[in-house]
Amino acid sequence: MNYHSTVQEVYRQAARQPARSLCCVPQKPMFLPGLHIPSIMHEMNYGCGSTVHLQDMTDGQRVLYVGVGGGLEALQLAYFTRRPGEVIAVDPVQEMREAAKRNLQEAAKTNDWFDPSFVDIRDGDALELPVEDETIDLAAQNCLFNIFTTQEDGGDLERALSEMHRVLRPSGRLSMSDPITPRPMPKHLRNDPNLRAQCISGCLTYDRYIGTMVEAGFGSIEVRSRRPYRMLDRLRYELDEDLLLESVEVCAYKVATPSDGPCVFTGRTVIYTGPDESFDDDRGHVMPRDIPLGVCDKTAEALAALGRDDLTVTESTWHYAGGGCC
Ligand SMILES: C[S@@+](CC[C@H](N)C(=O)[O-])C[C@H]1O[C@@H](n2cnc3c(N)ncnc32)[C@H](O)[C@@H]1O
Repeated sequence: MNYHSTVQEVYRQAARQPARSLCCVPQKPMFLPGLHIPSIMHEMNYGCGSTVHLQDMTDGQRVLYVGVGGGLEALQLAYFTRRPGEVIAVDPVQEMREAAKRNLQEAAKTNDWFDPSFVDIRDGDALELPVEDETIDLAAQNCLFNIFTTQEDGGDLERALSEMHRVLRPSGRLSMSDPITPRPMPKHLRNDPNLRAQCISGCLTYDRYIGTMVEAGFGSIEVRSRRPYRMLDRLRYELDEDLLLESVEVCAYKVATPSDGPCVFTGRTVIYTGPDESFDDDRGHVMPRDIPLGVCDKTAEALAALGRDDLTVTESTWHYAGGGCC
């Protein structure tokens, strides 16, 4: 399916004439002290959720942002890097790159800590990143990868993920935010390039979304947020029943997948309430008495399968902020 020309035309228009309702349902950006976001960046916020999380920010990182849009998240990332060229932002749409450059210049007028040189805007494509192997600590994309086709329709998503994996350093992080669907998207919507470009019809089920990351070689994944995104009603979208899309924010780590399968953290915990100070499952998980230990879904299932009265396994909260096992 060749939908790229439609996608590029949609974003050419979106750069020329900002339209809040164009594609995604944006969230209010995180407040960062001393960061003033120009109003044009709010108008050109074409993402869902956020890919900027405090727990990913460390000194001296090299950051890649794919699909720059109006530059809002590139500016937020530059807030943490604060050195020339340390945020690389890639976009194939010339008008979007130009708009992002203008918006970043605007941002420099009201943020004395910021210089537009902090963001290196490059002409390029997620499917063939203009970035060297293993040179990036943190990569991000917001509401772009859901537009791409999967294996059965062309395989662009798999290519884009493999490109992110290629450019990340070992242990590097990939931060993503995309819509997902509760059941596979019907073909008539999947094949509509306009709906795909508007981040409506290319999205995957949660399991498939996580599965493509695992197949690309990301051995550990954190789900940081999952919430309702938008409703596709059955009449307008010619569906048997309404379809409530959600958006997810995830962080995938470039680490080897353990032999017993990937670690996917969705906010589950295990609590030991037995007579001892702690419980050790002899597989690297030590649970202090009465205190929830964050575990990945695989470990949660394994511990639940023990059927012990002194272990309570909690459900996914879809909000994992680190600090658990592994
Ligand atoms: C839905 S918008 C998201 C923009 C931005 N990430 C945000 O959150 O506001 C998609 C962006 O990806 C860009 N884009 C489209 N096709 C692309 C591709 N093949 N590779 C990289 N970027 C692409 C568009 O020009 C646009 O800037």
